[in-house]
Amino acid sequence: MNRIPFIAGNWKMYKTGPEAVETAERLVTLCADVENVEVMIAPTFLSLPLITPCVKGTCVKTGAQNLYFEKEGAFTGEVSAEMIRATGSEYVIIGHSERRQYFGETDANVCKKLKSSIHAGLKPILCIGETEIERNEEKTFQILDKQVSDGLKSFGSDELKDLILAYEPVWAIGTGKTANINQVEEVHQYLRALVGRLFSMDFACRIRILYGGSVKPENIRELMNIKDVDGALVGGASLDPEKFIKIIKYYL
Ligand code: 13P
Repeated sequence: MNRIPFIAGNWKMYKTGPEAVETAERLVTLCADVENVEVMIAPTFLSLPLITPCVKGTCVKTGAQNLYFEKEGAFTGEVSAEMIRATGSEYVIIGHSERRQYFGETDANVCKKLKSSIHAGLKPILCIGETEIERNEEKTFQILDKQVSDGLKSFGSDELKDLILAYEPVWAIGTGKTANINQVEEVHQYLRALVGRLFSMDFACRIRILYGGSVKPENIRELMNIKDVDGALVGGASLDPEKFIKIIKYYL
């Protein structure tokens, strides 16, 4: 199955509007000769309508870092899938571990957010991953099983055709500690088989599974060489376009 590599930058709560525009414009220039890689950047909600026109017609796409599952209403401070889609943005990150950890995001919420994103025509990137304690207690697969099964509950595979999964071990995020090759290989293989059991193996072979957690120019190549790794979700190293382009052009 030919899965086009997908390299995404999660800018988290960094960059003002003007800074985001400058970074996006620089990245577009650097990406001019990128071959066979889809690139996505996720700035703050405020920068989304500013940078989406800057990348239009290029291989760089944009996405939001979160959304609220209601379409509209009295939900102070929230942003809906329709509002994100109206900026021209194509993607949305759902269930990032920082949302689970600091903002009480549950698998039930994740499921509702997935539903509303698909309904609005946004392509969801579902983040999953275990904490250090869970790994040490050998609960990694149990945790991933629950996050995937509960997050994707009640969907048919036809609704999930644009789904991207991102395995981000919480202990590897922003720590400089990347999961080792065996750990990544084992989990990605497990995740594809799990999606195969929940839906079908044909569907599982079509969806892309990204790795995230301290991805940098120095380790992207070996990560991308792992059979079931179809791309990366990059935090810190995506903020600097000169660094991020080295990750995007991992194949050179
Ligand atoms: P770092 O690349 O900074 O570890 O962050 C990973 C991440 O959380 C991407 O969503």
